[in-house]
Amino acid sequence: MMQTMTIKSPLDMHLHLRDGDMLRLVAPYSAEEFAGGVIMPNIAPPITTMEALHSYRKRILQACGENLFLPYMTMFLKNYDDAFLEEAAAHVIAMKLYPAGVTTNSEEGAKNIDSLEPQLKAMEALNIPLSIHAETHSHNLFLREQNFLPILEYIAKKFPNLKIIFEHISSKEGLKLVADYENIYATITLHHMTLTVDDLMGEKMNPHLFCKPVVKTEADRDAVLEVALNANPKVMFGSDSAPHSKEAKESALASAGIFSAPALLPKLAEIFEKHGKLENLQKFVSDNARAIYGICPPEKLVLLDKSEYRVPATCKNQKAEVVPLFAGERCSWRVLGVE
Ligand code: DOR
Ligand code: ZN
Repeated sequence: MMQTMTIKSPLDMHLHLRDGDMLRLVAPYSAEEFAGGVIMPNIAPPITTMEALHSYRKRILQACGENLFLPYMTMFLKNYDDAFLEEAAAHVIAMKLYPAGVTTNSEEGAKNIDSLEPQLKAMEALNIPLSIHAETHSHNLFLREQNFLPILEYIAKKFPNLKIIFEHISSKEGLKLVADYENIYATITLHHMTLTVDDLMGEKMNPHLFCKPVVKTEADRDAVLEVALNANPKVMFGSDSAPHSKEAKESALASAGIFSAPALLPKLAEIFEKHGKLENLQKFVSDNARAIYGICPPEKLVLLDKSEYRVPATCKNQKAEVVPLFAGERCSWRVLGVE
């Protein structure tokens, strides 16, 4: 008998949709299967004004076409005044903090966290969650997340009513902090649940698997996978799908970012089933996020069945081309339809 499952309103709580031709190419992959997503603000220039926010939101909706998809907008956290934050509160799901220089288009990010304390205080009072790229810009690439933990701890203690979202968590040390602090939650990507540094460069270097935070050891991967499979209520799915053109990836100085949108739900179903945890997938890809953020996403039923799906080898239109995660690979589940 055919094995099927329905997911109610899947949500992607960390998503890069870019702009222009790339936006038009990648948005449908997310919008066809997800009911909504948290849109990262690191386009060029980053989203720092209400005008930019509203017009970016319009371009996203246009690129989503007929699909029912709610973009939950974020802004790039800077030294905004209280009046601005109060106005923004009605239009954003979170403010995103990028330490300066840690990843793509983060040059305008924070040079030191102290300078943002007035904003964090205002956000705490206004109930605006802090979404954070928790990495330092220090020398050991593999320890950048770990080295950032004291800063996160400082923020969590100083602003106990500030909801902190530790984005794309990638290390077992990071997970410990989430467990220790009531006001720290986390998003988990498909790639940090499945890949290690050996996949990235154990044999040949695969730039399509290069991202920040970089994928780590088996112990880290397994720890991240375990909290996801158990749908721990402090964590939720956020793909960090972050497309860069094939050209920018297959170059001497490859950009960081993994485009995972075409593989997400089929691959998640495959993994959860393999570990006998299919019953937790609904929580991981939707219910936990609703509870953490207190949101009520549009109703969308996504039907999956256990039959072969092949992740596209490449995704392109006339103007842009991107290679997805698990390009050309088979997957044992597919999305059958959406209601
Ligand atoms: O690998 C990454 N790519 N990590 C990020 O945090 C940003 C993203 C991007 O925008 O390309
Ligand atoms: Zn990201």
